[in-house]
Amino acid sequence: MSNLSALQGKHIVLGITGGIAAYKSATLLRLFIKAGAEVQVVMTPSAKEFITPVTLSALSQKPVVSEFFTANTGEWHSHVDLGLWADCMVIAPATASTIGKMANGVADNMLVTTYLSAKSQVFVAPAMDLDMMAHPSTTRNIESLKSYGNIIIEPQSGFLASGLTGKGRMEEPENIVEVVADFFASRSDSSLAGKKVLVTAGPTYEKIDPVRFIGNYSSGKMGFALAEECAARGAEVTLVAGPVALTTHHPSIRRIDVESAREMLDACTASFPDAEIAIMCAAVADYRPEQMTDKKIKREHTEVPTLRLVKNPDIAATLGKAKRPGQVLVGFALETDNEVANAVEKLERKNLDYIVLNSMRVAGAGFGTDTNAVSIISPQGTVKDVPLMSKDRVAGEIITAITQKN
Ligand code: PMT
Repeated sequence: MSNLSALQGKHIVLGITGGIAAYKSATLLRLFIKAGAEVQVVMTPSAKEFITPVTLSALSQKPVVSEFFTANTGEWHSHVDLGLWADCMVIAPATASTIGKMANGVADNMLVTTYLSAKSQVFVAPAMDLDMMAHPSTTRNIESLKSYGNIIIEPQSGFLASGLTGKGRMEEPENIVEVVADFFASRSDSSLAGKKVLVTAGPTYEKIDPVRFIGNYSSGKMGFALAEECAARGAEVTLVAGPVALTTHHPSIRRIDVESAREMLDACTASFPDAEIAIMCAAVADYRPEQMTDKKIKREHTEVPTLRLVKNPDIAATLGKAKRPGQVLVGFALETDNEVANAVEKLERKNLDYIVLNSMRVAGAGFGTDTNAVSIISPQGTVKDVPLMSKDRVAGEIITAITQKN
């Protein structure tokens, strides 16, 4: 279902930077206007080499802002006012240079000063050549922008202007508009107002000795996206997070950091009685070493040590046993074979109301990625297949699917 109507009357600052994908910004602007938004274009000086301000001002029916003041009249353009006016800012295309300036607060043009003054959600759609995209400085700058709460609209892989093929194509304007529309739709959705939601995220670490552990590749991104989505819909969220390098943004999220499965179990059993919904997204280690040595195991030992493992508690199953009528318990499944059958078996054994099966066969889904593709399964069968999209949007689809029944 399209959420385009959520853009009606919204004030959007469209930031355009100097990359070849700037030609797509005219389409993006038209789509925003068509959906009923009011758009103010802010361009970097080099963006004008790629698309003319005349085209953009004609489409937006507003003068394009690019400099701090109009040369012939001396009229001052206030980036602070623009930042306050905006219901959101969309920077598309965002070049490596502008991303670097935004990440580091280099406010040497109207676009970056407006970005630094913006009080609203900022969306960034990178576009550049594949090698620039893969450069560690770009990766680090994008991670910084994410940590400030900006939403990155991931570029696609494909044929690039340089003639090379790889990741760096700006996301298509139709999809950018949908991401922004979904954002406003979920912000105007207060379906979880007054409800308490428990979410687990990330891996657990099971100590072997003071410097080693058993863990897994979970980054926590899917669980954090679920926590933000529930909070945006009005819920009071308790997020029990394993060791991850992520930050939360919504003030209604109370975060409890844990390390091991047993610590996660304790935090979950304390919060579950008050929760209307619990979503077990963490990748909990099934086993832990029977013993943890208090000194580092030394390589110089003549014999290779044998690691004896014992079973960890099953957190989802423990909550499943304690579940009261009316509470909704959602699990995740990560399967490498017989995916659906194994997921349904877990759903039944753990007394879950839904299980979300990650599609491990789809590139870009599962551990660590910013995107995911899932199937949401209830005891009655598949509720919804969600194709590959950002984990933020997957979170929206999951919450919509599990709350529609309530
Ligand atoms: O964190 P990301 O990098 O974004 O990746 C997201 C994810 C792939 C980790 C996530 O989407 C996911 O699939 N999480 C669950 C992975 C998993 O542990 O699956 P499982 O099939 O082993 O467990 C099934 C369910 O039981 C899960 O809800 C799990 O949280 C729960 N469980 C498992 C073991 C255990 N001891 N206690 C549990 O509660």
